[in-house]
Amino acid sequence: MTPEQHLDQVLSAFASPENPRLRDLLSAVIRHLYAIVEETSLTHDEWFAAIDFLTKVGQKSDDVRQEFILLSDTLGVSMLLEMINYRGSVAATEPTVFGPFHVDGTPHRRMGASVVDHVLESDEPLTVKGRVLNTLGAPIGGATLDVWQVQSNGLYDVQQSSDTRNLRGVFTTGADGTYEFVTVRPVDYPVPNDGPVGVMLAASSRHPFRPAHIHFVVSADGHIPVTTHIFDARSKYLASDVVFGVRESLVVSMEDGLCEKDFVLEVKQAG
Ligand code: BEZ
Ligand code: FE
Repeated sequence: MTPEQHLDQVLSAFASPENPRLRDLLSAVIRHLYAIVEETSLTHDEWFAAIDFLTKVGQKSDDVRQEFILLSDTLGVSMLLEMINYRGSVAATEPTVFGPFHVDGTPHRRMGASVVDHVLESDEPLTVKGRVLNTLGAPIGGATLDVWQVQSNGLYDVQQSSDTRNLRGVFTTGADGTYEFVTVRPVDYPVPNDGPVGVMLAASSRHPFRPAHIHFVVSADGHIPVTTHIFDARSKYLASDVVFGVRESLVVSMEDGLCEKDFVLEVKQAG
């Protein structure tokens, strides 16, 4: 039997039409896995090393730490999913990764308010402001901006303590589409790298850093929401973000305590 005949035999074993989507997904996984094994002339030792690595990824994961998502992030797969599932046109703000540090139920804050609940010595104050617009340039009143970011010590609040909250807020734009809030300048920070993904990065001569950024989910009734960031133009990691999330259109100046950025949402088509 040839490897091609063997592949056909395996694919037909999974060809049940009961769940066509599952069948198609498994078929793609099997075909691509076989192609990897053949293309690389994979040895037994290498296959067992891969299984050992994935076992460690599973063992490192729990309710708080999700090493498989980190693996997806650092292989660029999370960013690819954002790209292919985003329905905004080129005129809309570009999306980027959501990441693991969003917290549901963040308090709503009044426009212009500070998201700094705990001041750190290394904080550099920053005002962030701009407008939320549609792709025709019209302001969107009542749009929501869910904002979160790293502290100036390089840690998210939830990494420091499970019940402390800092540098998070939800804002609603006024009728003119404007938003504004006070925060601290974000810093470059490493993704968690004390597990098997960290070992993979080191073995590939890759650093674990993300360039300084602020996370946003911007949404409004009748519009396609966007999950995105703004990146500090000063960062030295813009060209080598460990999760491949940087887009030129999202890089902004954060000099002199001010950062201005408009967000553009696509109108949802009916139907
Ligand atoms: C973040 O930007 O918060 C993030 C994204 C992907 C992996 C780890 C952190
Ligand atoms: Fe982040």
